[in-house]
Amino acid sequence: MEEKGAPPNPDELFRGLQRAPHNLIEALRRVQAHYGYLPLEGIKMAADYVGVPLAQAYGVATFYHQYSLEPLGKYRILLCMGTACHLAGNRLNAEFLRSLLGLKPGQKTTSDMLFSVEEARCFGCCGLAPVVMILKPDGTNEIIGRANPRSLRAAVERYRRLERGGSG
Ligand code: FES
Repeated sequence: MEEKGAPPNPDELFRGLQRAPHNLIEALRRVQAHYGYLPLEGIKMAADYVGVPLAQAYGVATFYHQYSLEPLGKYRILLCMGTACHLAGNRLNAEFLRSLLGLKPGQKTTSDMLFSVEEARCFGCCGLAPVVMILKPDGTNEIIGRANPRSLRAAVERYRRLERGGSG
């Protein structure tokens, strides 16, 4: 098991993955799981492995909200800012969350690296607007539909408890 954040061995990181361009998404996912984000050297490693130009891999890395080019919190809170969610209150939800987590203007991640607050494009479930998605460290996510300050506070408290070793 390699140390998190140390440069990975590509053979180990991409084990079982065929060297083919269609595996770019999975290669990037593994790089991000290793580092916690996608540093340029990691994007290059994935691009070289599957055989696509660095510019193409970089384009994919910046397009999908699952990927981040900077270190982010263990739990990534994504607020949909598509039209339906924006109109239904996600701008206010974002302000509430930022204040709840004590984020200063321009700050995306809490100083304990537990939470990040980000804006995202439409998740495709606009009927549940406003929608907030929490990406969890195990790769799964939680969707909060009709999100409001109460449900968002409850989610933050639940994950904080989980991190303290509570029952969640
Ligand atoms: S606009 Fe938010 S899920 Fe579509």
